[in-house]
Amino acid sequence: MAGPALKQLQSHRAIHEGGLSGAIGKTEMLIDFLQEGDQENAERAANDLVDYWKTRVISHADAEEDGFYQEILNENPSMEKSVVQLTRDHDLIRIIVSDIESLRETDGLSPSVLQKFYALLVVNEIHSREEERLLFTEPSSENA
Ligand SMILES: [Fe+2]
Ligand SMILES: [Fe+2]
Repeated sequence: MAGPALKQLQSHRAIHEGGLSGAIGKTEMLIDFLQEGDQENAERAANDLVDYWKTRVISHADAEEDGFYQEILNENPSMEKSVVQLTRDHDLIRIIVSDIESLRETDGLSPSVLQKFYALLVVNEIHSREEERLLFTEPSSENA
């Protein structure tokens, strides 16, 4: 079930901001190790970053789909399109993380893995912005 933090814009936004800034920091750490040629710590940082996406960001998405989105739909069935779109964003994040894991198994920390880590930051940032806009903006008031 959705905790109260998800239902309030300010606390929900704080979860998004905390999640994104942690991911940016860990991505930068990974890049620093690679630039220093420290492969061992780079691998560790990549493990840590994948773990972070799963436990911090994907688990937030899971929690939303398990309760919060359902509650929004129950209160307002016209939000279905928004919920479908936002769920697809979550799926994109899940797909990219799973692609990163497969790519690392075959090619290690290749440039395409790094591209996908950057892609996660972009998709997640857009998703959070859209979620805040679609689910917390009063549909009947200003449309500007
Ligand atoms: Fe979300
Ligand atoms: Fe969210």
